[in-house]
Amino acid sequence: MQKKVNWKDPKWKTGMRISLDYKNMMADSIGKGYGITLNELEKMAAKAKRADKALKKDWRERRVGFFDLPYQGENVSNIKSFANKVKTDCEAFVVLGIGGSALGPIALQTALNPPHYNLLTKKERNGCPRLFVADNIDPAGFEGILRVVDPEKTMFNVISKSGGTAETMSQFIIVRDMLKKRLGKNYKDHMVATTDPEKGILRKIATDEGLETFPIPANVGGRFSVFSSVGLLPAAVVGIDIEELLAGAAYMNELCMTGDLFQNPAYLNATLQFLADKKGKPMSVMMPYADSLKDIADWYRQLWAESLGKKVSLDGKIVHTGPTPIKALGATDQHSQLQLYIEGPFDKVVTLIGVKDFGAEAKIPKAYKEIGELGYLGGHTLKELIQAEMLASEMALTHNHRMNCTITLPEVNAFTVGQLLQMMMIQTAFAGGLYNIDPFDQPGVEHGKQYAYGMMGRKGFEGKKKEVDEYIKKAGSLKGYAV
Ligand code: PA5
Repeated sequence: MQKKVNWKDPKWKTGMRISLDYKNMMADSIGKGYGITLNELEKMAAKAKRADKALKKDWRERRVGFFDLPYQGENVSNIKSFANKVKTDCEAFVVLGIGGSALGPIALQTALNPPHYNLLTKKERNGCPRLFVADNIDPAGFEGILRVVDPEKTMFNVISKSGGTAETMSQFIIVRDMLKKRLGKNYKDHMVATTDPEKGILRKIATDEGLETFPIPANVGGRFSVFSSVGLLPAAVVGIDIEELLAGAAYMNELCMTGDLFQNPAYLNATLQFLADKKGKPMSVMMPYADSLKDIADWYRQLWAESLGKKVSLDGKIVHTGPTPIKALGATDQHSQLQLYIEGPFDKVVTLIGVKDFGAEAKIPKAYKEIGELGYLGGHTLKELIQAEMLASEMALTHNHRMNCTITLPEVNAFTVGQLLQMMMIQTAFAGGLYNIDPFDQPGVEHGKQYAYGMMGRKGFEGKKKEVDEYIKKAGSLKGYAV
């Protein structure tokens, strides 16, 4: 479980500041013609100023709400008291959600609770329930979760901002039916809904049926919602210090208040990534060297992709823009992906994420002294090995003229994770300004959803069903292209 820390102590806070080292993005380090020049970066100042102004305006005028999430005092108290009740009553907490309504809770759990958390005893879990996140509709996967939890000792948290997502609402209907059959009208004591404060069918159902609810502010979209009730409720239930998490996010807000590109870590990283893309590197790899951070790379992949991958610019032009985020894990993916990153096409920028203090060392005992290939390992630690390998990857990338940068966390705790996630959200929102697109919508995903509605017989989508039938007919006439 997490160490007790004092995030109110300014000295501790400064010591826990995360850092961005971008020297290997620059031509000075990786070579002329490969990296970004200082001049190119400086030339971005005017564009960055415009993006900063627009983003701050959206924040001031409450179109963009994620900046405010670190300061939601009352909601935090409500979440904590509900979480305490769940801890007393339940053995398991099951999130029903997808996309932004699932990736945040998963990222926080992996980062801030011990590995194999669900396999620990209740005592080892500090009395907290097991956590399951049903983020897909694979019938075998979903039934697999229901098989391992006892509904009478489980709280199901349905999370949907829109309240109408087919995947999540199907799961909700299945669980509600199962609970009603088992528990009669007490089913509602085992369900909690996280959704828009006013809009959407889930809000209406929750009100009509008397379910406990938690709000997702109207101006906070799914992939920017990790610090709303979406991420905070599951996190509080599994014993994560949500106040420390929000303090980390608030600290990053402070660090990113400046419009000066060179002082603002989120703006600077967005600009470097943007320039890398414009210089023919549209693949953006995030590669943490810590198991605990691997689901943050997954969360970030959605944030970066769904926010920046757009067809139409803010001034109505067809742009088909957006970098492709790729997640990797060090040292594991050194034996899978790194060869491509080092010697393949010059189309990638790699963000390494390192941790100074893992809270563990894992000493390698002295053994096989006489065998040259093994003897050198004895007396070292796995911590030394993973840190050496990370530096070795950085050097190999740099030597081969590959753009890379490093984010370092002094340790993985709620305060540093709060900073990292908030930095990534500010970076993404700001990058939207640089790309001149709306980072907060997802029209392409909506397009796909409409065909699914048509096929499943939803009223109002008959036209889409017709398109599907025509597509299937045409596909039938093209049978020759399948083996
Ligand atoms: O970022 C987004 O807006 C999406 O990924 C949503 O989170 C996802 O589609 C789920 O939507 P909802 O929370 O409305 O069920």
